[in-house]
Amino acid sequence: MRSDANIAGPMADPVPGPRSAETAGGPVSGPPGFGGDVSRETLPPMDDTPIGRAAQLAVEALGRAGAGLPRPPQTRVMVVANQKGGVGKTTTTVNLAASLALHGGRVLVIDLDPQGNASTALGIDHHSEVPSIYDVLVESKPLSDVVQPVADVEGLFCAPATIDLAGAEIELVSLVARESRLQKAIESYEQPLDYILIDCPPSLGLLTVNALVAGAEVVIPIQCEYYALEGLGQLLKNVDLVRAHLNPRLHVSTILLTMYDGRTRLASQVAEEVRTHFGKEVLRTSIPRSVRISEAPSYGQTVLTYDPGSSGALSYLEAAREMALRGLPGGVSVEYDPNGAYAPQGEHSEHNPHSMSEGIQ
Ligand SMILES: Nc1ncnc2c1ncn2[C@@H]1O[C@H](COP(=O)(O)OP(=O)(O)OP(=O)(O)O)[C@@H](O)[C@H]1O
Ligand SMILES: [Mg+2]
Repeated sequence: MRSDANIAGPMADPVPGPRSAETAGGPVSGPPGFGGDVSRETLPPMDDTPIGRAAQLAVEALGRAGAGLPRPPQTRVMVVANQKGGVGKTTTTVNLAASLALHGGRVLVIDLDPQGNASTALGIDHHSEVPSIYDVLVESKPLSDVVQPVADVEGLFCAPATIDLAGAEIELVSLVARESRLQKAIESYEQPLDYILIDCPPSLGLLTVNALVAGAEVVIPIQCEYYALEGLGQLLKNVDLVRAHLNPRLHVSTILLTMYDGRTRLASQVAEEVRTHFGKEVLRTSIPRSVRISEAPSYGQTVLTYDPGSSGALSYLEAAREMALRGLPGGVSVEYDPNGAYAPQGEHSEHNPHSMSEGIQ
């Protein structure tokens, strides 16, 4: 794996930080794939009402997507994991990946779930004959043999999963270096990339362990529902175990609140609880519950191309921007203190040796 700053060109970003009314507005000037259909969720520019302001933010976000972001010095390998089912792992993987690519990065999505939902959402064929991540893990095929470009988004690629992967958990058991097969495959991948996002299945088996060994950062989507934190302790303990024995670089870098419904008190209570537990790992941007987000996969698209002006697209663009800026030297980074206090560090640190699992069931 190699990161080559000359390939995708500079991702010069306008000044990060809160947007002001002065910078909002103007014509939509996004990259190819933007514009097109305007839905009811797409907000047209209006006056100084909440809807008008939201519309202006959407327009500005699309402009920002075209302008791009600074690139990470090395490929960031991010594992999107939560063994709870249906919390938004796949949705987050594909939409963050598309957002990062629209911001100008080169991004690979590795579909590590036998359900193949990420492949579907990116419009990648994944019937059982297609060369897939199964061949990489079990047959030791090079990753480059299975990676396909995503049609609608320049700079976005996908290593698809087929149903064969369902047997991989068992087949891997008897193979040499069964936990580090994905890591080896990524290491030997020659193409320059800014980000690799790995979509994990809803379990903590060998497939997820392979992802945790291959990555440096864990991204945990948390659905803003009752029981949101239940079971999370198990994931965090696995992260600790993998860090202790197999991959010292591994740390939880990002927590993203998904399916947030601002009208319910429950959602804000869950959000508050998550922020209290995790502090600065939680992105400021949360992803709203959005019909457009849930419709997009059935068209083989991310919400970024399906309805670029929708609140869902806007929030993923913003979350991606936050994530990209946090990963830079000097960006936001925190060290976990088991007593509950978070001490900001001056520089971004790849290593967070402290356990986060205490206090969580
Ligand atoms: N912000 C959102 N608004 C509305 N629907 C959403 C949102 N995020 C995800 N969904 C929907 O919720 C369902 C579960 O999402 P998703 O498939 O991303 O979860 P997952 O954690 O990957 O699930 P699994 O554990 O089965 O892999 C899907 O139908 C998806 O379209
Ligand atoms: Mg999924």
